[in-house]
Amino acid sequence: MVNIEYIREMFKDKKKAKSVSYIEECIYKAGARPLRGDTRQWQDSDDKLAMIQEPRQLAKFMVYLSSMQIKKYIEVGVASGSTFLFLCSYMREMCDLEEATAVDIAVPHKLIKVLESDQMPYASFLLYDSRSLEFGKFLNGREFELAFIDGSHEYVDVMEDYRLLKDRSGALAFHDIVCRYQPGVVQAWNEIREENSNKVAVEFIDQSHDRCVKVAGIGLIHIRREK
Ligand SMILES: C[S@@+](CC[C@H](N)C(=O)[O-])C[C@H]1O[C@@H](n2cnc3c(N)ncnc32)[C@H](O)[C@@H]1O
Repeated sequence: MVNIEYIREMFKDKKKAKSVSYIEECIYKAGARPLRGDTRQWQDSDDKLAMIQEPRQLAKFMVYLSSMQIKKYIEVGVASGSTFLFLCSYMREMCDLEEATAVDIAVPHKLIKVLESDQMPYASFLLYDSRSLEFGKFLNGREFELAFIDGSHEYVDVMEDYRLLKDRSGALAFHDIVCRYQPGVVQAWNEIREENSNKVAVEFIDQSHDRCVKVAGIGLIHIRREK
């Protein structure tokens, strides 16, 4: 099982935890590997994380988040739950995170073990399709400082997740915004940016390989922050 205390320990030194190179090192230590083209390589074992993330992009994104107040966080599409576990541990130390919700149509095996062990009492998992009525009901009356959309990568679904969460979130983040292999997300991100052209937006799109094909990419829009 993933040891959350070990991960949180990485972020105890707040000065270090604001350094991109240090966080990148932590991401590798925790188990992530650069994404190469469409072959996702990571070391998957019970006690390691399997984040489907480009380490440098994620590191820059996290350091950016460290200057935000994020009390409530939701991630739609968590796979094994690895990025969720890592991000939440970081935000718990750096952003006063109080409540975190993971949503997926499949059971995130790493996350479930951690939740059952009571290492993250502030976090919960919902086995929902983000397009379902149940998820809509759950969202009713709830707000988040940050929502990370990484569920279905089809254009219509990304737009649907965006419409569902935009009025309930201070900031929205999207994964795969420049990814050659995820044209639906790229198109959705470009339209969402256009629709929010008066809002502050940031992109984390460094590539860890030297090929011309871009992978992954994280985009964040401050829905309530005008330029
Ligand atoms: C690329 S993975 C997420 C990766 C994860 N955020 C990470 O960084 O490691 C996409 C996930 O979205 C989930 N998913 C796909 N369609 C969904 C939907 N309609 N509602 C909720 N989750 C969905 C899939 O089951 C899958 O686990």
